[in-house]
Amino acid sequence: MMTRRGVLAMGVASGAVLAGAGLVGRAFAAIAGGLAFDASNFTELSKTITTGAGDKLVKYRFYKAIPYVANPVDVAYQCLNVSVPVEIDGKAVDASNAPILFANSVGGYMPSSVAEAEGVGGGGMTGLPPGAMAGGGAPEGAPAGGTEVASGGNAMLMGGKRVSNAEYALAAGYVVVEPGARGRTLTDPSGTYYGVAPAAIVDLKAAVRYVRANQGRIPGNTDWIISSGTSAGGALSSLLGASGDSPLYAAELAALGAADASDAIFAAGAWCPITDLEHADMAYEWNWGSNLLASGAEVDKNISTALAAGFEAYQEGLGLSGVGGFGALTARNYGDYLVQAYLQPSAGAYLAARSDADRASYLAANPFITYADGKASFGWSDFLSHVGARKKSVPAFDALDLSTGENNLFGLGTIEARHFTEFSLRRATGNPDATIEADIPAKLVQMNPMHHLAEKNPRRATHWWLRVGAKDSDTSLSVIANLAAATTALGDDVDLAMYWDAGHGANEDPDAFVAWIGKITGYSA
Ligand code: DHB
Repeated sequence: MMTRRGVLAMGVASGAVLAGAGLVGRAFAAIAGGLAFDASNFTELSKTITTGAGDKLVKYRFYKAIPYVANPVDVAYQCLNVSVPVEIDGKAVDASNAPILFANSVGGYMPSSVAEAEGVGGGGMTGLPPGAMAGGGAPEGAPAGGTEVASGGNAMLMGGKRVSNAEYALAAGYVVVEPGARGRTLTDPSGTYYGVAPAAIVDLKAAVRYVRANQGRIPGNTDWIISSGTSAGGALSSLLGASGDSPLYAAELAALGAADASDAIFAAGAWCPITDLEHADMAYEWNWGSNLLASGAEVDKNISTALAAGFEAYQEGLGLSGVGGFGALTARNYGDYLVQAYLQPSAGAYLAARSDADRASYLAANPFITYADGKASFGWSDFLSHVGARKKSVPAFDALDLSTGENNLFGLGTIEARHFTEFSLRRATGNPDATIEADIPAKLVQMNPMHHLAEKNPRRATHWWLRVGAKDSDTSLSVIANLAAATTALGDDVDLAMYWDAGHGANEDPDAFVAWIGKITGYSA
């Protein structure tokens, strides 16, 4: 390991422009606020990364804990790491025009920091108290069947093994940027919550702006920023993709001293995104409400039924059609749609990949599946029985007792948690006319990719990689399927698949994700 930190940094102190001048022949824009990337200030590291194509020995330049805004609120979170491959399996690589994977490690809408990471893929959420997640169900990461994991871009699972998109991307010769972001539990000494909505998305946008403002200094092609994230991080990744250059974040970005550059990205990868939060309680009861058992206790049937009824109008109001010519999506046909478009193909591929003996024993244990010639067939209600107990209580997101992570996400000032749906506010207070607090509607819009897609934001990402475990009951499967339907309707390039029998946080095809980046950019290392 060679450390060049300090030595070269001194050499370029008089002009950061020089630092990047040799990298690419692009002109540099002036950068205010000390936000110029110093290409000379790195540590050279190496790592053996296991991919589907075998082990790769990657030498890379690691740029650590770079503040990405001029006026940080908390620089431990508002900083990013950059990893640039220089040699893979002994062969020199020039990543100066490579795609840039922008991999967040947010989980649970918690704070995530990369400041202490010792190399690529080392960031993660901080300080998650046990059982702190939504719905009062199992503690985050508690096994509940299938692959299950505490989420975060750097802690996904493939067949029980940890996988990191960041590492896979580096091994493919791409540049990896790993941003930290503020999260919902952060408080200052006066007890004020400073990482609640919309802090995390504002931070990620500021980090994208930093990268783009440093085009030519930072290695990689800033026209090819591909974001990735899981769960809350997947929500933020899809939101980053949908909300590119939206004016709705201008005030917050200005207050942070974010670089003056576009925050639009090329593509968004989102695994099990926990998003569309203000409609997620309705969607949850529509999807999982036939099973009232959560963590061994029955949830309230009346509340479940009332929420599920609300999903009907919500889904109809979206005016979405199913992919593959399915026609208008409604609460009534959505189960059949998921089965046809995603679940049967997923089960079919799963079964086709098994040995005859394994397949036969799986089918014997799961007689609801009919299988022939690589195709599986079954009905929605059999699928729901197969998944079994739901993960969350009711309402799953806006809990009547304000106990979920999402209630905290919509905290304000010294108030830790608030209601963000009228349904829960009214049930909780007994006041049928109660309305959510005045600042909340705008924050919901800032946090919801569906809003930006409904507006047909012309600056959105136009490539989407969407993945979820079919057994993931952290949110409704309609959430990710609606994202796919909305982006498909806009003409975007959309790849949604569900991993059969996999739970929350699964990432079973990271090689395919990396190959997809090559395909959509036309780049090969
Ligand atoms: C995550 C999981 C949840 O169930 C939720 O409500 C929010 C976030 C997560 O794993 O990031």
